[in-house]
Amino acid sequence: MKRLISLLLVAFLLLCSACSADTPASGEASSTTATSGTESSLPDAETTVTTSGSDDYMDASLAPERRAELLLSQMTLEEKAGQMLQGAFYAVKASDLTANGLGSVLSGGGGVPSSNTIEGWQKMVDSYQKASMATRLKIPFLYGIDAVHGHNNVYGAVVFPQNIGLGAANDPDLMYQMGAAVADEMKLTHTLWNFSPCVAVAQDPRWGRTYESYSSDTEIVTALALSYAKGQMDNGVIPTAKHYAGDGGTVFGTGEGDYLIDRGDTELSEADFRSIHLKAYKDLVDAGVPVVMASFSSINGVKMSENKYYLTDVLKNEFGFKGFVVSDWEAVSGLSGDSFAENVCLAVNAGVDMLMEPTRYADAGKAIVDGVNSGVIPEARVDDAVLRILTVKFEYGLFEDPYMKNLQTKETKLGSDEYRAIAEKLVEKSLVLLKNEGDVLPLKKGQKILVTGPAADDIGAQCGGWTKTWQGITDKENGGPITEGTTILDGLKEYGKEIGIEFFTDKSRIDEADAVICAIGEKPYAEYEGDSEDLSLLGSLGLSGNKDALTLAQTTGKPVIALIVAGREVNISQYLGDFDAAVMCFLPGSEGEGVAAVLTGKANFTGKLPMPWYQDASQIGAENPKLLFEKGYGLAYA
Ligand code: BGC
Ligand code: BGC
Repeated sequence: MKRLISLLLVAFLLLCSACSADTPASGEASSTTATSGTESSLPDAETTVTTSGSDDYMDASLAPERRAELLLSQMTLEEKAGQMLQGAFYAVKASDLTANGLGSVLSGGGGVPSSNTIEGWQKMVDSYQKASMATRLKIPFLYGIDAVHGHNNVYGAVVFPQNIGLGAANDPDLMYQMGAAVADEMKLTHTLWNFSPCVAVAQDPRWGRTYESYSSDTEIVTALALSYAKGQMDNGVIPTAKHYAGDGGTVFGTGEGDYLIDRGDTELSEADFRSIHLKAYKDLVDAGVPVVMASFSSINGVKMSENKYYLTDVLKNEFGFKGFVVSDWEAVSGLSGDSFAENVCLAVNAGVDMLMEPTRYADAGKAIVDGVNSGVIPEARVDDAVLRILTVKFEYGLFEDPYMKNLQTKETKLGSDEYRAIAEKLVEKSLVLLKNEGDVLPLKKGQKILVTGPAADDIGAQCGGWTKTWQGITDKENGGPITEGTTILDGLKEYGKEIGIEFFTDKSRIDEADAVICAIGEKPYAEYEGDSEDLSLLGSLGLSGNKDALTLAQTTGKPVIALIVAGREVNISQYLGDFDAAVMCFLPGSEGEGVAAVLTGKANFTGKLPMPWYQDASQIGAENPKLLFEKGYGLAYA
């Protein structure tokens, strides 16, 4: 009966779409016909719609896996291939979604709709969903985004500290709260899938992605990633454990192409690989993490995205991972096959379930279909992939509420005071006191303090990469604050008023100062662009202005308090002697007053170094490396 009704309904809709120009289905269907020839082997909503079968998979009382099976049994090979594809929003028109039945669309770093507001995002996501709802089986698509330290692409969202600072804070309860807060801000924009947490266990600070890693310590990474992921899942957002696996273990000099270390090779025995790099995944799988992203990197020469042993035998079969594996951005093109199509087959056969192919999604879909038709990909492999993807979509309620009309959010706007307070607390806890001679810190009532250096008053510098844009940008380059927030200087002034400390920036008044704060650091960067040979603060990755600030620190007779705003433990050996006090701030994000709270003694230092601090880059990987500070180091006020 149900089936008959749905058949009649489909026939009726088809009829309507043929005669009325303004029904949504008609609008999408006609643009479908206009899409390019490269998509010819993929499903076409108009030609397949009449074969619509049972909608028994819409019975919400059934288990998600069962519903996925029921749906899968009705799907054509082309429809299945469509679910395995993810294109980038800038390359995917709504009509492409109807034509290809794409499982997902993503925003990479900086990928935002023309109106970067809650309304702009909802409009974009919903219009894609409308196109998905115009397909034969009405399978909702899923929007994926890198909300890696807050909902960082979106103007006005709270920008939390980067992971390395969260590792220094090492507070699982706050990580849970952060996960929940980020989930809430994501839901406001109708983006339900997050490419986070990164569970890299970074070993070499020369790696440009060091700040994406919580720590070089597997236990810290595991505990923090688990809490954060739970905070997301408990609040209806799909986290992704990435980049599986060993992204943080690559050997300097093995980077892909001419990258120094990023996307390189991790060279370890299986036992060490498992204990250092796989542990977090095992625990996240046990906690029900729905997605794992395969790494660009290799293990002992084999790219992870074509590594059947680690993707299928270990992750899926041994660990029991029931969710789906997504490949990284265009990662397929770097595999060992002779052609794009061959690489797609390699990835799928190894266990990749969804292909992140920002622009070549249609080619990838064709490669899957051809691969099955020619016997290179077993159809059972495709079925398994699609089952996994659909199960996650059922689990997260997309079939019940594709337009997210019933989505519950705690807040109604981005950047609420409550979420900023969580970020500020994390900033406070992430600061590591390296040195405090003569108890220069905390600052004292009645003091006058000169605040200088390129990181003192710049939200973009505090946030680093993956903020507003992929590479990130300083306020200085941006010509104004990159987003809403508080700089370190703003925070100091705020606390100063309360406590009775005067903060000023006019260097000509230096004689009046009781102490000088020098905030130096790294420029924003992401991925391989941040690979560094020597970790120098004066090289291409240092903030312009570091040199002046460091010279001032060296020459002023005043007590100097250095604030290091950087994605990693940069080379400071030659300057440390010029600092009376030094604080490692990592990349604190948009809530700079967290720094002020600790400098003024409103809160104590609790942060501990999440990685060993090498004396200089030549010590990295040495048998008995000379360290400036051990992992776990961090002073506090008495
Ligand atoms: C990065 C991933 C990210 C993806 C989507 C890739 O280049 O390696 O971490 O999730 O892009 O932006
Ligand atoms: C995207 C990032 C992606 C990167 C990979 C950029 O264009 O915005 O999200 O990670 O490309 O190279």
